[in-house]
Amino acid sequence: MAVELIKTGVPGLDHVLKGGLRKNSTLLITGSPGTGKTLLALQFIYYGAKDYNENGIFISTEESLEVLNQSARNLGMDLTSMVDKGKIFFIQKPIATLKGGIFSIKGLLDAIKKNNIKRVALDSLIFFEYLYPRFNGNKMEFRRQVLIFMQQMKKAGTTFLAVSERSVTDFDRLTYDMMDFVFEGFIVLSRIRKGSYFERVLTVAKIRGQDHSLDVYPIAIGNDGLKILFDQTPFSLVEKEEGFK
Ligand SMILES: Nc1ncnc2c1ncn2[C@@H]1O[C@H](COP(=O)(O)OP(=O)(O)OP(=O)(O)O)[C@@H](O)[C@H]1O
Ligand SMILES: [Mg+2]
Repeated sequence: MAVELIKTGVPGLDHVLKGGLRKNSTLLITGSPGTGKTLLALQFIYYGAKDYNENGIFISTEESLEVLNQSARNLGMDLTSMVDKGKIFFIQKPIATLKGGIFSIKGLLDAIKKNNIKRVALDSLIFFEYLYPRFNGNKMEFRRQVLIFMQQMKKAGTTFLAVSERSVTDFDRLTYDMMDFVFEGFIVLSRIRKGSYFERVLTVAKIRGQDHSLDVYPIAIGNDGLKILFDQTPFSLVEKEEGFK
């Protein structure tokens, strides 16, 4: 059976992924602060619902719905109307109030079924540390619990995108976390400095069972949202041309 690809909702990214993201797969977006992880996850959910008729759930431990609404509006997304139409659902679990047991996976699975949810985004993986606090000392068991959660998302028929933080995102010295191996796809966002400028960039580290580009691409964030400039090389990586007189 041919692999079904879905559009990510992030202009340029589907091109980098050579068509899109495998439907019903799991993807991890990692990167340092301010690189665009939350925006990317938000666009995945928003445009998934608006343009591709795939209802979504956004689970946020990071930002309140008000803050998300505001930044979405500045980037051309009308989240509120999609929420009002019942196409997007927010689950807000601020870390400050998160405790083991409060969140019910069964409740989430019921909501997925009831509302015909096809996309789930989780910002960020820190969520699991609070969901399974008793496993924090036991990395193997913690990883197993995350894997079980992901399998439930897959079984429920959703495409699952999660965000994680990483302090060092120097592409040449990327340190891997054991969670990276649990996901089928793994995308890294970073900032690269050249002279006195920083530039945001993206690279796809892996997508199991799928061909994708291995290049590093610039990211642009503007009034129309976040997009990947798939036909450009990051200026920070362009070697200075010499020899022209
Ligand atoms: N309207 C806009 N125009 C240009 N840039 C914007 C706009 N709105 C947000 N940004 C940029 O997007 C960045 C925020 O991206 P985002 O919140 O997705 O990052 P993040 O990787 O999730 O960060 P964190 O790790 O702190 O959660 C900000 O640093 C800001 O510079
Ligand atoms: Mg964020």
